[in-house]
Parts: sequence; C-alpha cells; structure tokens
Amino acid sequence: MPQKLYTDSKIELTPAIARHYDLIMNSISFGKYSHFIHRAVRDMNIRHGDQILDLGCGTGKNAALMSERMGANGSITGVDLSPEMEKQFLARHGGDQRITFSKQRIDIPFDLGKKYDKVLISFVIHGFPHEVREQILKNAYQHLKPGGKLMILDFAEINMEEMPWHHRFIFRTVECVYAFDYIERDWKSILKEYGFTDFGESFYFRNYARLLTAFKKKE
Ligand SMILES: C[S@@+](CC[C@H](N)C(=O)[O-])C[C@H]1O[C@@H](n2cnc3c(N)ncnc32)[C@H](O)[C@@H]1O
Repeated sequence: MPQKLYTDSKIELTPAIARHYDLIMNSISFGKYSHFIHRAVRDMNIRHGDQILDLGCGTGKNAALMSERMGANGSITGVDLSPEMEKQFLARHGGDQRITFSKQRIDIPFDLGKKYDKVLISFVIHGFPHEVREQILKNAYQHLKPGGKLMILDFAEINMEEMPWHHRFIFRTVECVYAFDYIERDWKSILKEYGFTDFGESFYFRNYARLLTAFKKKE
C-alpha cells in the first residue's frame, strides 16, 4: 500500500480492508449493500456504447453491474491506487476486453488521453479534505465529453442530529472527519461552480445515500 497521504481519512484503505471490502460492506449494511448497488446502477441509465470512467473503482463490483448494461461497444476504465483493489478488479474483469484498469491517484491532476460519456465516483470523494475533492472534480470534468454525465454515488446531505442515535453511532464509528464535513455541504452549488448543470438525484438507505448526477455543459 502506498504511504497514506491523508492521516485523518479512512478512504485510503488498509490492505486487509481492501481485500475483504465487498464482504465488509455487505456485513455493515446487514446484507443490503448488493441490492442497493443494483438499484443505483439501474438509476444511472447506462446506455449501449457508453464509455465510462470509474474513479476509485475498488473491487470492480460497480463495473460488473455497469458492464451488463453497456453492450459490446461500451467500455469501462477503472482507476484506483490500491494494489489490493487492482488484484480484485483484474480477477473479476481480466477476461473482458471492454474493461481496463489504470493504477493512478485521482487526487492529483492526470490525463488518461480519452474522453468519457460518464464518470462515476462511488463512495470515494467524501473521504478527502475539501480542497482535494476539488481536484477530483476537475479530473472528472476534464475527462468528460461535452454533455457527458457525472455520477456521484455517496452520502446524501444529512443532518446528523436528525439520525436515530444508533445510526449516528455507526456513522461516527465507521466514518472519518471528512465525511462529517461532506454531508454538510451543498453539492449542487459546488458542482455548478465547476461547470456542471441539469442535476438529478435518487436516494437509498433511508435517504442516507444518494446518486447525484449532473452534466458537463455542451461547449
Ligand atoms: C470506499 S472504497 C469505494 C470503492 C468503489 N468505488 C465502490 O463504490 O465500491 C474507496 C476506494 O477509493 C480508492 N482510493 C482512495 N484514495 C484514492 C486515491 N487518492 N486515488 C485513487 N483511488 C483512491 C481506494 O483504494 C478504494 O478502492
């Protein structure tokens, strides 16, 4: 595992957590994670031929579900910094010519030399300091075609004080300070500043999770 850059963050997973990530998510959601991801991917409206960039792609579970909808001419590029995630992603998708992996940090400027129809950032962006999130958004924007769609699947804007105490306890235990900051921000206003428009949203898990979509303006 590369050196952790953000000591207060939990998003740079330890190798042990990365190795068992899908199982852990399923356990802490009491078996509901898989159903949730199926619904969220359905709501992404993936189309045949879509070229998709998955930033912080993890084990490739989301890519597997998206690939069922993109047809023979679609493609997915998964990007992640974790060797453990790379191993799992390639084990899952190694035989599929449509799906490739790039070992790359998403919190610094980079250029994959290709523009995409859709960029997914799923349960990644909340884990960074806000100024770093801005770089991730710039990377997403730069890799989208004009009119392309950004899809942020992550926590919704949540008022922690309104959570039942046991949910608040789990959130405080599992999540890091950056996630507490993430849920308090107005993400549509932030995305507007970065040139995104035409917002859409779908909610899951008692409205704790949200798929927020927005389009890059057509130039
Ligand atoms: C919470 S997991 C989410 C994985 C996947 N997107 C999903 O929804 O199942 C966060 C992922 O972000 C990756 N990650 C964390 N920091 C990163 C960075 N700076 N650059 C690239 N990937 C990063 C981790 O390795 C991990 O795979």
